[in-house]
Amino acid sequence: MRLLVCGGAGFIGSNFVRMRVRDHGDEVVVLDKLTYAGRRENLADVEHVFVHAGIEDPGKVAEAVAGCDAIVNFAAETHVDRSIAEPDAFVTTHAQGTYVLLEAARHAEVRYLQVSTDEVYGSIEEGSFTEASPLQPSSPYSATKTGADLLVASYFHTYALETLICRGSNNYGPYQYPEKLIPLMILNALHADPLPVYGDGQQVRNWLHVEDFGRGIGHVLEHGEPGEVYNVGGPDECPNLEVVQRVIALTGASDELIQYVTDRPGHDRRYSLGSEKVRALGWEAQTHFTEGLERTVDWYRDNPAWWEPIRSGDYRAYYERQYGSQLR
Ligand code: NAD
Ligand code: TYD
Repeated sequence: MRLLVCGGAGFIGSNFVRMRVRDHGDEVVVLDKLTYAGRRENLADVEHVFVHAGIEDPGKVAEAVAGCDAIVNFAAETHVDRSIAEPDAFVTTHAQGTYVLLEAARHAEVRYLQVSTDEVYGSIEEGSFTEASPLQPSSPYSATKTGADLLVASYFHTYALETLICRGSNNYGPYQYPEKLIPLMILNALHADPLPVYGDGQQVRNWLHVEDFGRGIGHVLEHGEPGEVYNVGGPDECPNLEVVQRVIALTGASDELIQYVTDRPGHDRRYSLGSEKVRALGWEAQTHFTEGLERTVDWYRDNPAWWEPIRSGDYRAYYERQYGSQLR
């Protein structure tokens, strides 16, 4: 297959592209705006064609999709805290950008897969969400992702476009930008920097290794039923404080680095996805959290050339804004 992968220079997109080229022999065109989260370095070892553009640019998107069999859209603003501080780009990319991609898919008559998130369902105290659960997003991030999902569904119903939606739970693994919980805690622990835990640290996330999500997306792209949504959840859940304690154990850091900071406004308590539907399609998660976290810590420890430029660049200004005055 020849795929147009939008947002393929980010965390999950680059892992997906690597797996598709290596394991499936796909040809891949990556279209990416290279925001702070997108980096050419993430794809340095993978053969691909690169187009530097935003998904909201109809001309560039139309050129890039020519000759492709499908569009897979990872392109997004992805950090909840940034969506609370500055929602603008979330609206542009998720609403306008998804619209432009859907129009391109419709005119090129190609299959369209939207990469979405468990956060569209909101928080759940007990049990797990199915694909039929109501959509109750809480943050500007999840609300705009939900809007994109609804637009995708409308293109199936209205234009019979072959659409698919994959809703993943919290991903972790190599190449994740260190604003997210796990890479932030790993890099801070390796540097003996404070480990900022929001609120009481008892929020629960359902952890999915990025390669399991990548395989799930590929599987749904090939075998999914057009018009359907597939939840792709991780095999294990874990409260945040326990995640931090596990990182401390794996890095040999001191637990005195833990610092409780002001909770995120509107913080979702627990996410949990039921993945029976994608399992029935033949996908299964292969990596449990214990093994996956150990491998992820090793990857960050072994790849300072990847994170050193991030930690010394614009990220510092973000970090100071987000945590500066709160950390001792
Ligand atoms: P990321 O922030 O690491 O990467 C996002 C990529 O999109 C970057 O390469 C960025 O440059 C690019 N991008 C942003 N705006 C763009 C635009 N307007 N046009 C073109 N490219 C643009 O994100 P990620 O963690 O890899 O997430 C990828 C997708 O998976 C997102 O749609 C996200 O909502 C979804 N998702 C993420 C998680 C998670 O835990 N990270 C879980 C479930 C679903
Ligand atoms: P995050 O990685 O931002 O993913 P999401 O908000 O999409 O689930 O955060 C995961 C959890 O970790 C979430 O409950 C917020 C919490 N968290 C902290 O306690 N401290 C931090 O510094 C960060 C970034 C997150």
